[in-house]
Amino acid sequence: MFSISKSLVVVLCLIMGSSVFSQQAVIKRMGSTDTQSFDDNWLFSRYGSLADGLVKEEPKNLEAVSLNESNWEKLNLPHDWAIKGPFRIELRGETGKLPWKGIGWYRKHFTVPASDSGKQIFVDFDGAMANAKIYLNGNYVGTWPFGYNSFRMNLTPFLKFGQENILAVRLDTENWDSRWYPGAGIYRHVWLVKTSPVHVAHWGTFVTTPNITKEAADIKVLVNVQNASNKSVKAVVTTDLYEIDINDNLKAKVGSLITSTLDIKANGSEEAETHSVLNNPKLWDLKTPNRYVAQTKISVDGKVVDTYNTPFGIRTIEFTPRNGFLLNGKRVEIFGTCNHHDLGALGAAINTSALKRQLVMLKEMGCNSLRTSHNPPAPELLELADKMGFLVWDEAFDAWRIGKKKFDYNVIFDEWHERDLMALVRRDRNNPSVFIWSIGNEVPDQQNVKLTKELADIMRREDPTRPISNGYNDPDGGRGSGAAMALDIMGVNYFFDQQPKWDVDPRYANKPTLGSETASTVSSRGEYFFDDKFDKKSWQISSYDDAFPGWGCSPDTQFRTNAKYPHLLGEYVWTGFDYLGEPTPYNSDETNLLNFRTDPSKQKELEAKLAELQKSNPPSRSSYFGIIDLAGFPKDRYYSYRSHWRPDVPTAHILPHWNWSERVGKVVPVHVYTSGNEGELFLNGKSLGRKKMEAGKDFRLTWDNVVYTPGELKVVCYKNGKVWATDIVKTTGREAKLKMAADRTEVLADDVDLVFVTVDVTDNSGLVVPRSNPLVKFSIEGAGEIVATDNGDATSFVPFQSTERPAFNGKVLVIVKAKKDQKGQFTVKAESAGLQGASTTIRIK
Ligand code: GAL
Repeated sequence: MFSISKSLVVVLCLIMGSSVFSQQAVIKRMGSTDTQSFDDNWLFSRYGSLADGLVKEEPKNLEAVSLNESNWEKLNLPHDWAIKGPFRIELRGETGKLPWKGIGWYRKHFTVPASDSGKQIFVDFDGAMANAKIYLNGNYVGTWPFGYNSFRMNLTPFLKFGQENILAVRLDTENWDSRWYPGAGIYRHVWLVKTSPVHVAHWGTFVTTPNITKEAADIKVLVNVQNASNKSVKAVVTTDLYEIDINDNLKAKVGSLITSTLDIKANGSEEAETHSVLNNPKLWDLKTPNRYVAQTKISVDGKVVDTYNTPFGIRTIEFTPRNGFLLNGKRVEIFGTCNHHDLGALGAAINTSALKRQLVMLKEMGCNSLRTSHNPPAPELLELADKMGFLVWDEAFDAWRIGKKKFDYNVIFDEWHERDLMALVRRDRNNPSVFIWSIGNEVPDQQNVKLTKELADIMRREDPTRPISNGYNDPDGGRGSGAAMALDIMGVNYFFDQQPKWDVDPRYANKPTLGSETASTVSSRGEYFFDDKFDKKSWQISSYDDAFPGWGCSPDTQFRTNAKYPHLLGEYVWTGFDYLGEPTPYNSDETNLLNFRTDPSKQKELEAKLAELQKSNPPSRSSYFGIIDLAGFPKDRYYSYRSHWRPDVPTAHILPHWNWSERVGKVVPVHVYTSGNEGELFLNGKSLGRKKMEAGKDFRLTWDNVVYTPGELKVVCYKNGKVWATDIVKTTGREAKLKMAADRTEVLADDVDLVFVTVDVTDNSGLVVPRSNPLVKFSIEGAGEIVATDNGDATSFVPFQSTERPAFNGKVLVIVKAKKDQKGQFTVKAESAGLQGASTTIRIK
């Protein structure tokens, strides 16, 4: 169907085959070197709303040291308490019809050796959903309400060295709302950090590269040093620079910064600013994402008391109003996707294997940028983006002072927005992939001049090196009120028709502008309808890529728009992957109307439609927006984006499939996505004509009057008159066999590394049979286990943990892992009644 370009193969092999994500990495993450995983051996108990809809009263004092924990569940983090379901029809589609509302308590028993006495002990949470309250040995330590931000708690005051300690965490999602599935629980990693009293503060380094030429780069490192002792100290700060490889191993030392000495008062902090010049810098860019590490050492009385690593990259970013975005001086058009944070069948629980699989697929499609809609991402996303060469639009909020829902961010905005913005910027400002900060998405108070300026100024204060943007859905884009003047970049969601007007407005004519959200095309993989795009019986959507909500458009229309405004920076398609929740247009929740709130004339009509929809109670629980479905199977438009974003790589893709026994003699339109510019379609060897695409106008070849007869459809695509790519689709025989393909042959037994195994339902000759949905049963022999299954069907209520699931249009996925600390191998088996089964063996590394 398509060939992968050689250079990309090299990059992908490096990424897939390497231990980029391995446990042996030398520089695990930014921070002090004594940072240990704190994910294992937690206890969990749930109160308030339960999974089955019953309510269990929350007892008092669950943080108490003496508590009977005999009924608590044992688990390891990351943990999403809602992904097990069950899906319940009466729950909201917008949050995945999953029981994520509730109160969750976690407890962990641990000891810190007496020999650590005198050290500072912290626990770092990468994210906990939501309203986290932390207790140690029965004492309240602190709170962090926003479930998407990372935060640190200082355990030192209540810690008992050399004895057992009990850390307790209370989470509450009952007082939290969302327009998509947010997950619930401690769904990201947790770390135990030990430092000496004099140490680099949390996220206390900031590496910038103010001047970069081919010959040399100025490196400036700010280091905030904290003195948690009761006497003043003289701290000597030294920083060495190293290259770092894709496996996070320190390589050659390439320089040292000027040493500085700080006089720090008791319980005070001071900042050192040091410089160096690095000769012949290896730049970070999308093809060769070179990285460095600044290794900072703090010494007191001649002894090193803290070592802190800060990975960073050297690159220039420039945003121009007329010539787009320049990375290291060269224009890069933003071919981006918006993505929510869930990982489909795994829920919100972060898993680097799963995230990496997503990014590899996006990269192969030609995507070069990610928008973390609409919240701070997991740190692993940025680490992967740094290593794989993606640019990241790093976003803070979906609501400010006015919520879209009752318990949106609005509830905590006044008290927390500054701290949350600071946390986001300080954590992420050393990642070279991050190139734009976003203060929000379609916030109802987007016209608020004062607030926009205040939020942008906080971000600028924390990082003056990156531009600030905001995603606007009001067609006026916050420009009428002047709010957008406080931004460096205009983020326009959908409404490009306004652009010419603002391009001549002196206030905005020189403001670089970006399609922060585009398209919102909806479809179900492998479904094609001929009379209507929507089927309100199956709740599926036709895959001719011409269905979208009122505010959206097809990829083709968006490409045309982009061609009309070539000075814009590019686009972020809504979305790369399907996600849990927001099953528009079958979303029967009020948030479905939000996009139209600026057009009161439409409001009534839409309310009536919504009421109608609510009556039929659609089962849809995940989105239809993805270019790739929830199981990670590409939909047709994957090849449209690939054709457009990677024009130099041969692509030809025919849609639909060719199994239409009920339509013999009837018209079945045939469309082709190609990176060529011409194509000839053949049905059973007979030409149906050669067609051309006009540059900037056409983005698919169409034969809309093809009369169906079974057999073979073949397209031969041309580029500049030469054969460029071909694709063939055949009418298949009956389903006869299962075919299995694992994305890896080896896996680590670390409880984290996953293998994604795709099962195709094929006929006797091995062709995938479309429209076939047989029940497939999975089992494992040996030292492995099944983690989850999926098929991309947005209406299925089969729990993701089920070991059996029907295929959806010929495909089904099983996610497996090795049993922890086991050796050897395991075999994954798939069976289906009346079909020849399949199996594959995975070796444990
Ligand atoms: C946008 C919104 C996204 C999502 C999308 C669906 O307006 O920012 O979060 O709701 O619409 O098309």
